[in-house]
Amino acid sequence: MYILGIGCYYHDSSAALLKDGEIVAAAQEERFSRKKHDTSFPINAIIYCLKSQNITIKDIDHIGFYEKPFLKFERILSQHLQMFPLSFKTFLNSMPSWINEKLRIIRTIRKELKYKKDILFIEHHLSHAAGSFLISPFEKAAILTIDGVGEWTTTTCGIGNENDINLMKEIKFPNSIGLIYSTITSYLGFSVNNSEYKVMGLSSYGDMNKSTNKYYKKLKKIIDLKEDGSYKNNMNYFIYHYADKMPSRELCKLLDGPIRKPDEEITKRHKDIAAALQLLTEDIITKILNYVHKITKCDNLILSGGVALNSVYNGRILRNTRFKRIWIQPDPGDGGTSIGTASYIYHSILGNKRNFILKDAYLGPGYSTEEVRNFLDKNKIKYTEIKSEKELLEKTARLIYKDNVVGWFQGRMEWGPRALGARSILSNPCNKKMKEILNIKVKHREKFRPFAPVVCEDDALKYFDCDIPIPEPADFMLMVYPIKKQWQKEISAVTHVDGSGRLQTIRRSQNHLYYDLIKQFGKLSRIPILINTSFNIRGEPIVCTPYDAYKCMMGTGIDYLVIDKFLIRRDDNPKDKWNSEKYAND
Ligand SMILES: [Fe+2]
Repeated sequence: MYILGIGCYYHDSSAALLKDGEIVAAAQEERFSRKKHDTSFPINAIIYCLKSQNITIKDIDHIGFYEKPFLKFERILSQHLQMFPLSFKTFLNSMPSWINEKLRIIRTIRKELKYKKDILFIEHHLSHAAGSFLISPFEKAAILTIDGVGEWTTTTCGIGNENDINLMKEIKFPNSIGLIYSTITSYLGFSVNNSEYKVMGLSSYGDMNKSTNKYYKKLKKIIDLKEDGSYKNNMNYFIYHYADKMPSRELCKLLDGPIRKPDEEITKRHKDIAAALQLLTEDIITKILNYVHKITKCDNLILSGGVALNSVYNGRILRNTRFKRIWIQPDPGDGGTSIGTASYIYHSILGNKRNFILKDAYLGPGYSTEEVRNFLDKNKIKYTEIKSEKELLEKTARLIYKDNVVGWFQGRMEWGPRALGARSILSNPCNKKMKEILNIKVKHREKFRPFAPVVCEDDALKYFDCDIPIPEPADFMLMVYPIKKQWQKEISAVTHVDGSGRLQTIRRSQNHLYYDLIKQFGKLSRIPILINTSFNIRGEPIVCTPYDAYKCMMGTGIDYLVIDKFLIRRDDNPKDKWNSEKYAND
């Protein structure tokens, strides 16, 4: 039985394909359309899913959509009516996409895919919950979902038991932790639904002491938080319920200044506000989690929704609460709901037993050696073919050790927002200048943003102060942990200002080539850790095809590309006219 899950029209459109309960393919539309956070109908991702199994739309038994559009439309109408006439302009702006696109999803699916069978609509937070729980290793778990907003819901908690999900409590729009985080993101001059993680990174530069950070006390005014974790946003500080913008004038007054312009200097005040926001978010979620543990009496926790991408907090959950184990899928945000929708139909609606645990994130397209060779030959690209895996590992490890920046393109593309060793840029973390080198050669990104380390799971506890046993979400780069004091200077390029690292742990069973490369590098450097950053430049989605990878290398300062068994040196090939600087503008 094949089930196709679809999520689109808000942000991060995606498609996922289930075969008899097992996820066999999943990808975000942005990787194909090359438009970051693409919201459009994910036709390319769907074509990829079908092609990966050699099937056509006629083989699909059910299609699921990640939310109930009419229920969401009801919320939009109701919020605009309540705020009329203030909301009139935004209302008029939003209507065309509702009338032409969002409310016509059934028609679009039938027309674009020529699909005649039933289409099922799963509530948004149920899609979030299912997208993590039903593919997790837990038979039974407490579930918490938090995002900006779905139809009406912004936060839910409940319990998952085998193939049943019971969401017991919910908090509704306009009360939303996700929207608080996005409002402050917008106030600090970063883009909403895109740059929340930058604010998280910035928070470490601010005052993380609750008693001395004056913005922590101030920010507490924007939310009324009860002991059981239920909360209400103080709507004097927000205008997202009727306008295109998010912070109100009152909020600017509270935070001692106007909204920061994107190119304006980041001051101590901005850093302290980011820190205060992180502290407040952690307070709220900890309260909710304590309550969820109390009502579910369950030690396993499933986290989902965009807020589950807050890896700084994720790393603290097992220390701050009574939960003993945690699991989060590689893409807990809206992208991940296509998996949730399809899994919910197969397991919870059709009642099939769970038979699949997601152990790695390699669900995207892959290319055979012959496909890569054909691409290289057709484009007259100069390369060296490497005869054995051993040689490939030795050569690549040496290049990285000699401070080259290496594009690493191997196997199937990762699912989710993070590069996890299939479409990664790898470099030497022991070189103190590597952060600057990467920023000059490839990333052009803000100085305050850290680079991430990747370490083999069996070496992680030597270098990082992780929970024990190391939770699986660390494999998906979703847990930030302190780097042990004695190693911080040695790997300063991946040590954040507060001594933490947003590590990825890798197990050999997930990706043996990547794992062996890190070990090989360790033989040269005595530290088996690499810098792993996504294979793209700022403002562009992660590369998907050999063409994307080659183009990215030639347009930036990446020195070598290791693609399948082929080694390509940038300087051996004519420089492309493609100007990476032009695209580095998010
Ligand atoms: Fe969501």
